[in-house]
Amino acid sequence: MRGRKPSSQRWLTRQLNDPFVAEAKSRGFRSRAALKLEQIDDRYKLLKPGMAIVDLGCAPGGWLQIVADRCKLGSSGAKLVGIDLLETDVLDGVEIFVGDMTEPEMLDRVRTAVGGRAHGVMSDLAAATTGHRPTDHLRTTALLEAALDFALEVLIEDGFFIAKCFRGGAERSVLEILQANFTTVRHVKPAASRQESVESYVLATGFHGRGGWTVERADEDDDTTPLQEGGFSPI
Ligand SMILES: C[S@@+](CC[C@H](N)C(=O)[O-])C[C@H]1O[C@@H](n2cnc3c(N)ncnc32)[C@H](O)[C@@H]1O
Repeated sequence: MRGRKPSSQRWLTRQLNDPFVAEAKSRGFRSRAALKLEQIDDRYKLLKPGMAIVDLGCAPGGWLQIVADRCKLGSSGAKLVGIDLLETDVLDGVEIFVGDMTEPEMLDRVRTAVGGRAHGVMSDLAAATTGHRPTDHLRTTALLEAALDFALEVLIEDGFFIAKCFRGGAERSVLEILQANFTTVRHVKPAASRQESVESYVLATGFHGRGGWTVERADEDDDTTPLQEGGFSPI
């Protein structure tokens, strides 16, 4: 249609004009997503030297770069394990798997690589969108549930879980499990997450594991419940 830009061109224009894209590039980060984790960590101080961290959906590796730096990978005994469907360029000291994190055998490999226990489980997982909202919603929810399931298994006392979610936050069913197993649960939206995007992150800290351990599959009609607002800019 005349006057309308194809979406790929709109994406390119937005990328070229995005100050966070420019900053990520100038600082040598592999993705602008690195800045999101950096901002979240500046605020909530999650990452410390010596930690064992799992990054689900790690490609191209921006979050891995932030964790490697802040956990002092290579000099502190820290462990960092990532998995993605796509190849991730090598990063010194990081064990990276290529595969589907919803497959139990892939998660077994990740679990073994991190030594069975982790201080933090992070998920920036995003399914390829189809444009069919109910399908996209179910896929996103399934990834969040799979990430949470894994976190409940491997987190140590006082561990943290952070995961990307869309459309107003995590599902009620997911929030209930988080609230039962962590001291604090909040939604955060760092400045580097585009304001017009429906993306936010659910951050759960102070794992104690005294709640339910079963992540049941959500269905399409599940409510979304925004929790305590922990963002530094409005969701
Ligand atoms: C937003 S990107 C992650 C960006 C990354 N945090 C960074 O800082 O560079 C989301 C990733 O999730 C991955 N992903 C989606 N579904 C997956 C699955 N089932 N198993 C593993 N990775 C998956 C995609 O391949 C994609 O690379």
